[in-house]
Amino acid sequence: MLELEVYGLASAKVIKCFTIDENDNRDLLKILRGAQLPIASSCFGEGNCKRCVICSEILSCQVKIKDLLQISKIYDTAPLRITVDYL
Ligand code: FES
Repeated sequence: MLELEVYGLASAKVIKCFTIDENDNRDLLKILRGAQLPIASSCFGEGNCKRCVICSEILSCQVKIKDLLQISKIYDTAPLRITVDYL
């Protein structure tokens, strides 16, 4: 299991913490929305609108859990913090 912490920069607080299965094959946009987080999108995850940005530069619709696991191993953080500008 991978522990995620979603931090809103606009509110300056942790919005939600939750765990996800490492074998979940959905993109992060779907996972965050599945966790009832209002992540913006107007291209339905096709990678065009750039509204689903997390951590200042990552398109959540283009990132899978395996990518997050790679990041978490590099930075050795638990939980893995995801920042969203407008939350
Ligand atoms: S949802 Fe449009 S770029 Fe990710």
